[in-house]
Order: sequence, then C-alpha cells, then structure tokens
Amino acid sequence: MTKYEQDTLLIHNGFKYDAGTGAVSVPIYNSSTFHQVDVDSFGKYDYSRSGNPTREVLEETIALLEGGVRGFAFASGMAAISTAFLLLSQGDHVVITEDVYGGTFRVVTEVLTRYGISHTFVDMTDIAQVEAAIQPNTKVIYMETPSNPLLKITDIRAICELAKKAGALTFVDNTFLTPLSQKPLELGADIVLHSATKFLAGHSDVMAGLAVVKDEELAKRFYFLQNAFGAILSPHDSWLVLRGLKTLHVRLQHSVAAAEKIAEYLQTHPKVKRVYYPGLADHPGRDIQFAQATDGGAVLSFELENEEALRQFLAHVKLPVFAVSLGAVESILSYPAKMSHAAMGQEEREKRGISASLLRLSAGLENPNDLIRDIDQALAAVETSAVSL
Ligand SMILES: Cc1ncc(COP(=O)(O)O)c(C=O)c1O
Repeated sequence: MTKYEQDTLLIHNGFKYDAGTGAVSVPIYNSSTFHQVDVDSFGKYDYSRSGNPTREVLEETIALLEGGVRGFAFASGMAAISTAFLLLSQGDHVVITEDVYGGTFRVVTEVLTRYGISHTFVDMTDIAQVEAAIQPNTKVIYMETPSNPLLKITDIRAICELAKKAGALTFVDNTFLTPLSQKPLELGADIVLHSATKFLAGHSDVMAGLAVVKDEELAKRFYFLQNAFGAILSPHDSWLVLRGLKTLHVRLQHSVAAAEKIAEYLQTHPKVKRVYYPGLADHPGRDIQFAQATDGGAVLSFELENEEALRQFLAHVKLPVFAVSLGAVESILSYPAKMSHAAMGQEEREKRGISASLLRLSAGLENPNDLIRDIDQALAAVETSAVSL
C-alpha cells in the first residue's frame, strides 16, 4: 500500500466512497440493529453497540493516524479514558502524572480507589521520581504531555522504557497535540487516548473520545471492554468527528503558529508573570518536546499577578470565548482553577502550581494579530494597583 503523508491520510483514509451509492461522505448508519439472513452465520454487523459502519470508519481512521492496530470511539474523552482503566483489576496500582486533566484525576482518586486500584501521583518530568513510585503491582503508567494546564513535558520514550522493565502498560493522553504532532505508539506507548471533543473534531459541536492500541492482544481486550461497558460514540457524532478530521492539518498549522506568536508577545508583557508554552526557547521541556513532537502545540497558559488582575483582564477581553474546553475554531480562554481542574480541590491545585491567577488559552483560527491586539487592550485595562496588590 502506498505510504502517504499525514495531511493526505486525513482525506484519503480507509474510506474513499460508499460502495453502494458512490457517496464521498461517510453515510450515517442510524441503525441500532441489522437484519441477519442466516440463522447459523450472522453478518459483520449485528447490533450497533458491538459495531456500527459509521463508527468503524472513524475507528479505522484514528488507528491509521496514530499508527496502531485498532481504534475505538467513545461518547466522550472520559468514557475512553475510563474504559482504558477497566483493563485494571483489584489490587493493581497506577503511576500517574500529577497535573493530569481534572476529570481523569477524579476517576483515579474517587472511582478506581473504590475498586481497590491505588495510585501514586508523580512529577513525570522527573524520571527518578517515576522510577521510585513503581511498585510490584504497578500495571499502568499514565502520561499526559504536554500536561494540562502547566504544559510540562514528559519524555515518553524514557517512561515507556521504565514501564516495560516493570511490566506495566503505558497510556498517553494525546489530546493536546493530536497524532499530527506526536505519535506516542511510535515512541513505545501501548495505548493512546483522546478527547476528540477538542482538536480532532475541532468545532465545539460534539463530545467524543478515542483510544488506539498498539497490538492485537490489547485490541481484543479493549474491544471486549468497549462492547461490555457500552460507552460508544453515536453514528452521527462519529460522522462529525470524521468531518472535523479532514481539516485537522490546516487548522493545526494556523493555531500552532498563532500560539507561538501569542506566547512570545505575552512573555514580553510586564503585567504577565509567567508564560507556559513548550514552543518557547526557555521552556525547560523544549528539547524533549521537539525530540518527540513536531511543534509546541496550540495551547498555552499564562499567569497574571493575582486573582484581581485576572478578573479585570477577563472583564475586558473580547475575542476568545471564556469557556471550558480547547482545540476549536474559536480561541478559548479557560480558568483551570474553576473549570478543567475544579474537581481537584484547592489544596491539590496549589500543590501542583495551578494558581488562582492562571489562564489557559487555546488558539483558534482568528487572525493572531487581532487576538494579540485584543489581549493587549485587556491587559492595558488591568489596573496597576491590581498588579501590585
Ligand atoms: C487532556 C484532556 N483529556 C481528557 C479530557 C476529557 O475529555 P471529554 O471532555 O471529551 O470527556 C479533556 C477535557 O477537557 C482534556 O483536556
């Protein structure tokens, strides 16, 4: 089979046209069940929880993009992540990055613990800390890189090597970069997870989750869990993600360039205390980032002097929507302390450096000069008295 570049694969994935009708857009098979012609041998599809032709095209496409053997589509990123954790059993242990997405934190700390699955949070940028946290019953090492919301970079190759020695599986949440920028399976990971709600779908109009596994044995176990637990993506939502994927390359190219420009601008502004963006020259994880990914991504975080300055900034900024989420056509400004990481609790957040004056910006498709002008006027409106409080 001809090996295509990523952008070509987004358009020419497994589906070219529908064999029955010639439709170039994947048909939405809104059928829960499928007629069987023979009592002894059922067709490929029997019931849509177990398999649906529209969802299957999405599952094949994400597997192709991530370089895995099989993909699975879920009703949300959390459904994909939770199903992956169902590979674990009572008595198992998870080593997990400390600034993980708040929803994942909630599942690990408040759900898995009820089933006798324990965890240790570590700073994944510190390999020695990860090594020290591994126990004889450690079955999964869970990474999210760049991390959310502090954009810390984990060395995926190094952690995967440690995990292999320990006999543990490695899960990587690849939501922030997508397979176009980073391919965890090629770096040694076992399972890649996505909130497809973000860049993959890209238009703030669908909730979806995806998982891709690296080998047939895991594929069998994962399929069993997807079918058993049943948190599958609907045919219509599968189609929306497929449509979003077709433009992923051009959307990302624009948004990454915008994020770079905005990060550089923010870094020079006197009212901005700190900028977190792995594409910046002085980011501590920059070398690892560019050894395992093609760019710094389209998400950055920045800290203002204090909460009052943040409130004044938010009262004046006009272009980005102020909302939960990221990875959309419109720029999204989020307040991690009260949005993505609200489930973490103040004490845990502060331990991790997620302060009350931290904002996260996901660059959209607006002209970056307009975004910078807007941010600039909002920063100008922050009173100096707020800054020096
Ligand atoms: C990095 C990351 N992983 C997982 C999720 C959860 O995905 P969903 O909201 O689609 O359930 C999110 C959501 O914000 C996220 O940012």
